[in-house]
Amino acid sequence: SPAVATTARILARLKDQPGPLLPVLHAVQHELGCIPAEAVQTIAEALNLSRAEVHGVITFYPHFRSEPAGRHTLEVCRAESCQAMGGEQLAAHARQALGCDFHASTRDGDFTLEPVYCLGLCAQSPAVMLDGQPHARVTPAKLDRLLHRARE
Ligand code: FES
Repeated sequence: SPAVATTARILARLKDQPGPLLPVLHAVQHELGCIPAEAVQTIAEALNLSRAEVHGVITFYPHFRSEPAGRHTLEVCRAESCQAMGGEQLAAHARQALGCDFHASTRDGDFTLEPVYCLGLCAQSPAVMLDGQPHARVTPAKLDRLLHRARE
């Protein structure tokens, strides 16, 4: 498969350097957008690791994903100032509205939900970022409108 071919090419380049696993995972995700199961298999074989070991590292770092990201990315601020201004309810609302948890994507692949730790909008908490655009004083109703608009 193309994913395996890409992974093999990355491994050929990086596998002989010390501590190759993280650089390999970063490169694979950069090129494929995620680290699919067949890449995990190829990486494990090349680096003499078990698939469980490779999988363990992927799940340990929130940066790595096993599935492709959604078309849109919603980042909800989980830092202190936003938490104090309803950020927790907003995070719960985002999870419920999208039907997925943080570090995951909606089933239709429309959205990926990620936490973010301060967007520099603390004076206008709570804040979110949708596809790189910051939004301040976000209520659940405002979030619904943003998601609706993004879906159109
Ligand atoms: Fe959320 Fe700063 S704490 S924007």
